[in-house]
Amino acid sequence: MSLLPPIRLGLNIDHVATIRNARGGNYPDPVRAALIAVETDVDGITAHLREDRRHIRDDDMARLKLELTKPLNFEMAATQEMKAIALRVRPHACCLVPEKRQERTTEGGLDVIGQHNHLKPYIAELVAAGIRVSLFIEPDRKAIETAHALGAPVIELHTGTYCEAFAHGDHHRAEEELARLSTGAAIAGDLGLEVHAGHGLDFATAEKLAEIPEIRELNIGHFIIGEAIFIGLTQAIKQMRAAIDAGRARARPRS
Ligand code: PXP
Repeated sequence: MSLLPPIRLGLNIDHVATIRNARGGNYPDPVRAALIAVETDVDGITAHLREDRRHIRDDDMARLKLELTKPLNFEMAATQEMKAIALRVRPHACCLVPEKRQERTTEGGLDVIGQHNHLKPYIAELVAAGIRVSLFIEPDRKAIETAHALGAPVIELHTGTYCEAFAHGDHHRAEEELARLSTGAAIAGDLGLEVHAGHGLDFATAEKLAEIPEIRELNIGHFIIGEAIFIGLTQAIKQMRAAIDAGRARARPRS
């Protein structure tokens, strides 16, 4: 058994909505997936309401807030429109991410340094409303220190580069990226930040991330929803939980 607290698993349900929206109808319903996931074994649900509403829609957020019995993590760009919606929906948490219209998925972390003056009052308003704010950033010292200075209690480390290197069999680069994530998590932990991680994770990469002692939560979507096509959502979640627990059992506190 690890001496460390267990890792929470957050399921991102965006891509259930992607499949629904491909036909413009009402199914598959992302809220139904969220409820099954909660019943199975997740600690929270993440949904990203994008500016272009390509997957999650406004009424999905409202229904999630109404029906979920576990924390809702509202992923969003730091725009005035999204802030107004978040203050209405009042999710447990808001994860602020960069967003570009043309991107296939979130590319890179939030530019917390360049956007400091915009983000400072923005975060303060969400925090004052009782929402736990998380900043999706690269594992760079300066970005982590800036996130801390901005008053966010949580950061989510971007694991996309690591997962891409791993998927391409580039072991050297994957090791380098994993070390960068581990160092970033240690820096954040020293600052008192709660550390989450996510983007592009599968069973193998989630297991590796779970070995990093400061990480308290992994947010995973695309892989689990894809795997659900073959083995079902319940089984995909259970397998992911087992992978994370296996990694966590090997984790050791830093000396
Ligand atoms: N965390 C954040 C901040 C994200 O932007 C995403 C993608 O929406 C995820 C986690 C989940 O990534 P994936 O769908 O690749 O597992």
